[in-house]
Amino acid sequence: MSNDNATSTSTSTNININTGASNRQVRLAKRPEGAATRDNWQFTTEAVPEPGDGGVLVKTLSLSLDPAMRGWMNEGKSYIAPVEIGAVMRAGGVGVVAASRHAGFAVGDVVYGTLGVQEYALVPADQVQRSGLVKVDLGLGSITQWLNVLGMPGMTGYFGLMDIGEPKPGETVVVSGAAGAVGQTVGQLARIKGCRAVGIAGGQAKCDWVVNELGFDACIDYKAGPSAVREGLKAHCPKGIDIYFDNVGGEILDAALARLARHARIIICGAISQYNNANSAPAQGPKNYLSLLVNRARMQGMVVFDYAGRYPEAIAEMSAYLKDGRMKSREDVVEGIENFPEALNRLFSGQNFGKLVLQVAAH
Ligand SMILES: NC(=O)c1ccc[n+]([C@@H]2O[C@H](COP(=O)([O-])OP(=O)(O)OC[C@H]3O[C@@H](n4cnc5c(N)ncnc54)[C@H](OP(=O)(O)O)[C@@H]3O)[C@@H](O)[C@H]2O)c1
Repeated sequence: MSNDNATSTSTSTNININTGASNRQVRLAKRPEGAATRDNWQFTTEAVPEPGDGGVLVKTLSLSLDPAMRGWMNEGKSYIAPVEIGAVMRAGGVGVVAASRHAGFAVGDVVYGTLGVQEYALVPADQVQRSGLVKVDLGLGSITQWLNVLGMPGMTGYFGLMDIGEPKPGETVVVSGAAGAVGQTVGQLARIKGCRAVGIAGGQAKCDWVVNELGFDACIDYKAGPSAVREGLKAHCPKGIDIYFDNVGGEILDAALARLARHARIIICGAISQYNNANSAPAQGPKNYLSLLVNRARMQGMVVFDYAGRYPEAIAEMSAYLKDGRMKSREDVVEGIENFPEALNRLFSGQNFGKLVLQVAAH
């Protein structure tokens, strides 16, 4: 997400780079069983650190709250190591450089990186690359858009749809979690690429927004009744589903599998319906998988970080869509680091409307 022309951005945003007296942090206290509660977190306060040679001190402005955080709280093997008990909770975010002894970063630069749920992130010299610290260009999008369409969720939607989905004009693309961060990008991008976009989301308000504001062709409210998804897919995908972008897993994945078109592609992006399973029970697997055989279809998982080297191409394309109005973005901002535990849970109750962001400092 770097942009070398970004050094002037901070001067135009009037971001306060003064460091406070202390650094409030949220640490993982214990691993959850089922949904996380406040008991799973420990709040600590430390002195604001100073960077050593080659290091950078970043003042956190806004953090990305992601469903994946729930997975990082679990023990066990995944695509990334679990957060250790007692460690500051991992989180990506946008901040402003408050002190720097690194030649590539100056005080006032607006940056993206793995900052953690804390007011100040000290990034030592040997962690600058690992934490993905890069300057962001606020000329391309706002801070919250850099956590949404131009950030990790947007990259997920872009590469999942484009690289794995391989959309062709006239095809029907169905995306679950349609009003969320990844979903809003997928549906709009599908339309831009000449496809029909059908969303699946919880509640009429989200469905109305997806159709009326984002221009999806249709949206199915999966909370409208037990057969809502099945009936909705039948009505809105008369020739079947060419691409199913799955953010939720469970029953909705099964309903989509039952309606595939010949040579369909299914992108396994996430399965939020399964993340809070009690006793870490394994995710419910697809029952209708033989539809892959019948329809010569393929189902493929993706991890966005595999595409890190190609983020600039997606950022260039999507920022142009934001500028010319072909793509819109919606972020749902919760203020205050102290509200982190409850804010995170909004993802699992569907209370977030758009990309969920935790604002840690004014900007
Ligand atoms: N593979 C990757 O590299 C990658 C990267 C980023 C994200 N992801 C995955 O992408 C998915 C979406 O992430 P996001 O950041 O865009 O989150 P999001 O969609 O902004 O927020 C989560 C949404 O999930 C829906 N949801 C929650 N519980 C549900 C359930 N039981 N059944 C159906 N829907 C449910 C809610 O929307 P409703 O109100 O519509 O229910 C909620 O708003 C997640 O599964 C995440 O893990 C994967």
